[in-house]
Amino acid sequence: MARPEALATTVAGIVARVARQLRPALGDAADGEARELVAAAMHQPRFWPSTAASAPLTPVDVAAIDAATARRVAGAPLAYAVRSAPFRALTLYVDERVLIPRPETEHLVDLVLATAQGKAGGVAVDVGTGSGALALALATEGEFTRVVATDLSADAIAVARENARALAPVLSARRPGAVEFRSGDALAPLADLNGSVDVLVSNPPYIAFAEVSELPASVRDWEPPQALACPDDGLAVTRTIVAGAGSLLRPGGLLAFETDSRRARAVAELVEQSGSFDEVRVLCDLTGRDRYVFASRRVDI
Ligand SMILES: C[S@@+](CC[C@H](N)C(=O)[O-])C[C@H]1O[C@@H](n2cnc3c(N)ncnc32)[C@H](O)[C@@H]1O
Repeated sequence: MARPEALATTVAGIVARVARQLRPALGDAADGEARELVAAAMHQPRFWPSTAASAPLTPVDVAAIDAATARRVAGAPLAYAVRSAPFRALTLYVDERVLIPRPETEHLVDLVLATAQGKAGGVAVDVGTGSGALALALATEGEFTRVVATDLSADAIAVARENARALAPVLSARRPGAVEFRSGDALAPLADLNGSVDVLVSNPPYIAFAEVSELPASVRDWEPPQALACPDDGLAVTRTIVAGAGSLLRPGGLLAFETDSRRARAVAELVEQSGSFDEVRVLCDLTGRDRYVFASRRVDI
């Protein structure tokens, strides 16, 4: 006899089917995640499967949910499975070409906007933009005239541009042409902005190669290696950025890094030792860990 959910493809029916497929890997978490997967695959809010339980689904909807379920069953993190990740007010397209944006990075936006408050206009740059998360949040929430973002990975730049295209109505309503993505190493693509940048944010790769094996499999086996680790005990990209940030930023400009709690003090020392910054400070994430290094470009040099 056909199971009730197989009689018509309703939201509740497909949630039940997805949960059955996820249960061997996820156990008791399967029901909740099935609801989350179906909602995200349908571009709906998380509560939607509960409120629209009896709504019918089209074959195209079902195919999209089945594809997402197959990716999740194969071990992909949920964001890659459903090809989207929330970031503050935004929903970003993500796939294996870019890091899945993290809540700590959402908090970095709060800290940057609070620090830049009252300084309307100006140029912000995001180095190592990945999905474009930081650049697009600053462009949609901040008061910057222009946001320019770089990434060494041309694949990541393609994803970031796609996300900017999807946000074009919002972005152009604020400031047409205000967000730009350039591929290249660290600050190299930004030479034309020397001395004119007000805010430089970066969440660079900060893990040492030797530490990659300690990462959870969902990160280690799925997220792009160049987004996670780099030479020099995880500090190579940070070092390159610090070395050029003094020339890029205008006097009084803000340098803001996200980093690993184990390296925050070392990053602060690098910034201090560069001689280009004062007010160097280590800030905490919402769980109290040292996760961000902020500094002001000296005005007296
Ligand atoms: C930790 S991910 C951060 C991505 C995104 N900003 C976020 O917070 O979700 C680091 C990013 O830096 C990029 N990257 C690695 N080395 C780089 C380099 N030398 N220059 C520019 N970008 C680099 C990676 O491709 C990756 O997209």
